[in-house]
Amino acid sequence: MNINVKNNVYWVGKVDWELRRFHGSEYSTHRGSTYNSYLVREEKTALIDTVWAPYAKEYVRALEKTIDLKKIDFIIANHGEVDHSGALPAIVHRLPDTPIYCTAAGVKSLKGQYHGDWNFRVVKTGERLSLGSKELVFIEAPMLHWPDSMFCYLTGDNILFSNDAFGQHYATERLFNDLVDQDELYAESIKYYANILTPFSPLVVKKIEEVLALNLPLDMICTSHGVIWRDNPAQVVHRYLEWAKNYRENQITIIYDTMWNATRAMAEAIAAGIRAADGEVVIKLYNVSNTDKNDIITEVFKSKAILVGSPTVNRGVMSSLAGLLEEIRGLGFKEKKAATFGTYGWSGESVKMLEGMLKNAGFEVKEGGLRVMWNPDDAASEQCRDFGGRLAGEFVR
Ligand code: FEO
Repeated sequence: MNINVKNNVYWVGKVDWELRRFHGSEYSTHRGSTYNSYLVREEKTALIDTVWAPYAKEYVRALEKTIDLKKIDFIIANHGEVDHSGALPAIVHRLPDTPIYCTAAGVKSLKGQYHGDWNFRVVKTGERLSLGSKELVFIEAPMLHWPDSMFCYLTGDNILFSNDAFGQHYATERLFNDLVDQDELYAESIKYYANILTPFSPLVVKKIEEVLALNLPLDMICTSHGVIWRDNPAQVVHRYLEWAKNYRENQITIIYDTMWNATRAMAEAIAAGIRAADGEVVIKLYNVSNTDKNDIITEVFKSKAILVGSPTVNRGVMSSLAGLLEEIRGLGFKEKKAATFGTYGWSGESVKMLEGMLKNAGFEVKEGGLRVMWNPDDAASEQCRDFGGRLAGEFVR
């Protein structure tokens, strides 16, 4: 399948409606994904990125219906991760002499994964490749989100091929941002940023400022996942600048796990206390064991503060929370506050342990989390509401 993007630019990728897990099982893709590959057919023809390996054969078959492969003059590998390079071995098998343009780190990544001594051409920021009357301009984008990541820009058509940046895991047959459900698009875009790009936020700001300083006219952003931004493409750039600067909404998220509902009862009483103290703040509660972790991380990303609760089990915290907090640690959220709570029957270590985990994850932790023995009675429930009310005052400023 090919879809005309603009003038001589065609989408030749794959829409993956089935995908429900990405990066192994690390990232949930409730709405599937796309692997966007592009063909630029000027006097010379360039193929930009490919698709994930399981779709390599059908990709090549479909591409052959669009173009005689021998007419592809250049291959551009903006990023070596297998969701974009997975069909490269099949393409190189057919076109062994066709040059592959990528960064120096891209060569390492592609050689490391496919062990092929391919016809690589290393490019750096500012280098240009003539396609005839138009050119591709290369822009290195290291750590957005791999060392090898790169953008390229097509002059004349004013298209930025941004690879993973500005993407979403969002299967759609409608391809363009103005044709899809805007709420779904926003939800998948912010989830993608929160779960994948958060650790690289300072680099996101720097790279966007660098690209804006080039004063390149921008008609479209062709990402490698999800929609092509053609209607006001700058909107997603401005979103990224907002998200990259320690983004927070007026929200407190309460995350907990519970064995026999005692810690759940605490969570709900704390939420009631926050609500009584502050009628404006958005409060959301999630049981980690029955909620998708990437969706919770997106809510953490949006929060000013989080409260984390676990009963004590085996002198520790419930494993669901330990796993989630490890992922949160890796994302490196900044300027977020936290407090902890939990029930216990005898030893009661969980609250203190959660504090340590949250400090280790970079949160500003309000010490002295709330512990309740056994099930909260009326007095303990009142304590929870007071706790919530006090935190509302401290956390929502
Ligand atoms: Fe979509 Fe980093 O690969």
